[in-house]
Amino acid sequence: MEALRQQLVQLRQEIDAFPVHDAINTEDFRIRFLGTMGALKTVMAELKNVPPEQRKEAGQLLNEIKSYAESVYQQHLDRTRTTTVETSRTTDRSRSGSPQPIGSRHPVTRMKNEIVSIFQKLGFAVAEGPEIEDDWHNFGALNLPAHHPARDMQDTFYVQQNPDWVLRTHTSSVQIREMEKGTLPLRLLMPGCVFRNETISARSHCFFHQVEGLYIDEQVSFADLKQTLYFFVQEMYGKDVQIRFRPSYFPFTEPSAEMDISCFICAGAGCPVCKKSGWVEILGCGMVHPNVLRNCQIDPEKYTGFAFGMGVERPAMLKYGVNDLRLFSENDVRFLRQFPAVS
Ligand code: DAH
Repeated sequence: MEALRQQLVQLRQEIDAFPVHDAINTEDFRIRFLGTMGALKTVMAELKNVPPEQRKEAGQLLNEIKSYAESVYQQHLDRTRTTTVETSRTTDRSRSGSPQPIGSRHPVTRMKNEIVSIFQKLGFAVAEGPEIEDDWHNFGALNLPAHHPARDMQDTFYVQQNPDWVLRTHTSSVQIREMEKGTLPLRLLMPGCVFRNETISARSHCFFHQVEGLYIDEQVSFADLKQTLYFFVQEMYGKDVQIRFRPSYFPFTEPSAEMDISCFICAGAGCPVCKKSGWVEILGCGMVHPNVLRNCQIDPEKYTGFAFGMGVERPAMLKYGVNDLRLFSENDVRFLRQFPAVS
């Protein structure tokens, strides 16, 4: 009896120590302990060697170890059944994949890419800057010192933790960052998202996109500006489209202008898009102000340059016939799916 007792203690240890980590081991466990030639069968056979008066007790012990082995087996079974399913899901590389829906390029991105690719033909490279800017890059260096009334031209979002930080109100801040690097000449296009504290409606939003242009070299003139923008307009809107410049004011350019194109919808006859004027305003531009060059350690006696900035949403609305600016940022797939998958 004592020998049997010890055998059972050992068997229990073996049951506990048996390594089970998948369905195959679980079956090994069953064969080793519960199978027809398994360890339990062997100890059961010992019963006949136990003196009759102790058989009842021995039988109880044997039943206990049997149900213990069965319950451990059941636990292994439950555990490895779920892991087996998971493992096969991640490791069966021969299974065909589930189809991946192909997304489409966002219309704002498409328009931005189109603008960029036209200027790339003229040798403009692309640069980007941070969306959270300090006052200097967004205003100060652009010839908008503190309390300058032109700061009110744009309603600024300030960052609460640091009153020196703003969400950039225009991509002109990237001009400064690039000029500060000190490598000249510069011929850059700077696309990006900008932020203004404006009421959200079909025609205005608190964030939108701009593409900024900058060309700095010796002897850059307003004629270069006009020719560059004329090339852009012809590529973008067609050979028949005309341009005109209206004098304007921006603190960072002198002289400054706004550029209109002849309405490519009604060809100048007058329609709602051009508000019957025959012209559509598309960008602001000018010769980089000498103060801005100086702020970036560039000698205005030696270098001159032009800059321009245009919105991306408005031309995208005109091109794709979108009548509400909010559609661009709502990410409604029914809207987004209307644009071709590849471009
Ligand atoms: N930063 C101006 C705006 O957001 C646009 C602009 C005008 C950019 C003239 C320029 C420029 O670079 O020369 O309204």
